[in-house]
Amino acid sequence: MSQSILILPGDGIGPEVAAAAKACLQAVAELEGLEFTFSEAPFGGAGIDACGEPLPEETLRAAEAADAIFLGAVGGPQWDHAPKRPEQGLLGLRKALGLFANLRPVKVFKGLEHLSPLKEDRVAGADVLIVRELTGGLYFGEKREGDDEAFDGCSYSRAEVSRIAEIGFKAAQGRKGKLTSVDKANVLATSRLWRKTVNDLSSQYPDVTVDHLYVDAAAMALVTHPARFDVIVTENLFGDILSDEAAVVAGSIGLLGSASLGASGPGLFEPIHGSAPDIAGQDKANPSGAIASAAMLLRYGLDQPKAADRLEAALEAALLHDERTADLGGTAKGSAFAQSVLAHIQTAQ
Ligand code: NAI
Ligand code: MG
Repeated sequence: MSQSILILPGDGIGPEVAAAAKACLQAVAELEGLEFTFSEAPFGGAGIDACGEPLPEETLRAAEAADAIFLGAVGGPQWDHAPKRPEQGLLGLRKALGLFANLRPVKVFKGLEHLSPLKEDRVAGADVLIVRELTGGLYFGEKREGDDEAFDGCSYSRAEVSRIAEIGFKAAQGRKGKLTSVDKANVLATSRLWRKTVNDLSSQYPDVTVDHLYVDAAAMALVTHPARFDVIVTENLFGDILSDEAAVVAGSIGLLGSASLGASGPGLFEPIHGSAPDIAGQDKANPSGAIASAAMLLRYGLDQPKAADRLEAALEAALLHDERTADLGGTAKGSAFAQSVLAHIQTAQ
């Protein structure tokens, strides 16, 4: 049965890295005997230029009908004063698809330990997946704003905690089997419900080891012992901060992918970097974050773990053995590095 992948190239370096990701998906599909159908739609600034909307109606319909969605990046200075901004398309799409889980892996690749701002021996082997709740907590609570007093309410229901914790447990099952739940249960009522819900669920996942950390301790451990973690699951605000803290550990914004998942329907897969207008159109962009996102699309979007393993192994091999892009201190063009990954796909298992 064929699986459909919608590509939203977007703006700036988005189309460059999306092309690399698509070529990798095609190559992996061929070797693994999978059948993918690809389509493309305008989105972000490209959507504004083509249809006057960052999320054109037809793009939204195509997104809802797809099995998985790959996004390059959106935004750029040419739309800074437009009546609608490219980033609104992203918010609209996340909302329409009900994406409540944000997966942010941070991996220190072999041979790239020296790029981390932390000591090489500390970061060697670090491979963390942060699972962040995306639609609840402080960002979406009741708000009151006055001149002398302001209020932000934080609430979580057991159902909201359960569904994000389940994503964390399942991700841990496909990795090293370790789940760290991060909260502030010594002061916050929502955190106490969070912790109790995670503990109640843990009996359904006997193959996953669970521990709990307060968010302040987790923030320290991410920079002192990043390799101690496998999967971290946490609420919206803590996840926002911890995922950006963890991202700098890897050493370049061009290396990391992400996934956003809903209860049903397609997930959205995109590199964590933006549209990088400063290097767009020069074939300088590192496609690694996009390729890592394509591997997540295979793993979490299409349930093709073997194909995902093959693509991740190829990316790792290319980063270790081949000429790297400029952001990693190398001289390779983005397209040349993508060719290296394609070559390793043929030999990776
Ligand atoms: P950015 O991530 O686009 O760029 C930051 C710096 O990292 C730049 O120097 C850029 O050249 C470099 N960089 C980024 N990706 C790279 C890659 N793959 N290879 C090599 N170097 C890379 O962030 P910035 O400059 O703050 O934002 C530029 C535009 O992107 C803005 O319009 C912003 O709103 C948008 N943006 C979009 C996001 C998305 O589509 N999800 C996320 C973040 C920003
Ligand atoms: Mg953030």
